[in-house]
Amino acid sequence: MSTRPRTPAPATPAPGKLSLPELAEMKHRGDRIVMVTAYDAPAARLADEAGVELILVGDSAAMVMLGHESTVPVTLDEMIFLTRAVTRAARRPLVIGDLPFGSYEISDEQAVGSAIRMAKEGGADLVKLEGAGRMLSRVRAIADSNIGIMGHIGLTPQSATKLGGFKAQGRSAAAALQLYDNALALQEAGCFSIVLEAVPAPVAARITAALEIPTIGIGAGASCDGQVLVWHDMLGMYAGSTPRFVKRYGDIAGEIGEALAEYAADVRGGGFPAEQHTYSIPDDELAAFDAGIRERDRS
Ligand code: KIV
Repeated sequence: MSTRPRTPAPATPAPGKLSLPELAEMKHRGDRIVMVTAYDAPAARLADEAGVELILVGDSAAMVMLGHESTVPVTLDEMIFLTRAVTRAARRPLVIGDLPFGSYEISDEQAVGSAIRMAKEGGADLVKLEGAGRMLSRVRAIADSNIGIMGHIGLTPQSATKLGGFKAQGRSAAAALQLYDNALALQEAGCFSIVLEAVPAPVAARITAALEIPTIGIGAGASCDGQVLVWHDMLGMYAGSTPRFVKRYGDIAGEIGEALAEYAADVRGGGFPAEQHTYSIPDDELAAFDAGIRERDRS
């Protein structure tokens, strides 16, 4: 079986947008690819300004944005809504719309329909789905529809129950070989890149070396061609527990908490609003207004 990637013919990219061939060249030059999740326009603008290559509108939104316990409940409509907000603001980064659970499992037709909605309504440049095996035919069908598709293997949160929870994958020779074969099969099926989640670093390194397409790691070690972190995890905005592979680069929840406490104290103590936060009315207009009130009070 040949493992050469089949790159879908891309639609005309927006001016300034990174291209898939440029992303592939980054792997071959050994330049690391930076990917982060985002779920709204301000976050997308900040990620763009920071120079990231890829923005994933992940179905992690279910947990970090919508308050669910897992990624399973988020719907395609909800994912499209969030993706639309991100694509309005992201100029250079490629935006990947995550296909949520239930939007591609039934048939190739369903998968292509969902990917097309994500591209047309969400404005996504690319889409992502989880798994291999039966999903290879979904990947092939989406790639054949000229929509770039990213794979995702290892810990696949949509099937966490089947995997026995949010656990690292590929920790035996047999399981690692299965991941290796799945990665090659996803490349052959047409993926432009593959996310490796919670996979031992040496396993991810061998998969990365075997693939022509870039791997993006999350809990998969430093040998992957790029890394991704969830916005809320890396910035300290998520109140739930975070996996051990997360590195926190900020304490935004702490800063927001302090700002809200200061605001509440200001409102309660009369420190806000001050003169500069209010609008004036000319004296004669105010006098006429008062006269109008007096007249109403008399009648
Ligand atoms: O949904 C998501 O944020 C993801 C990343 C963790 C890769 O799939």
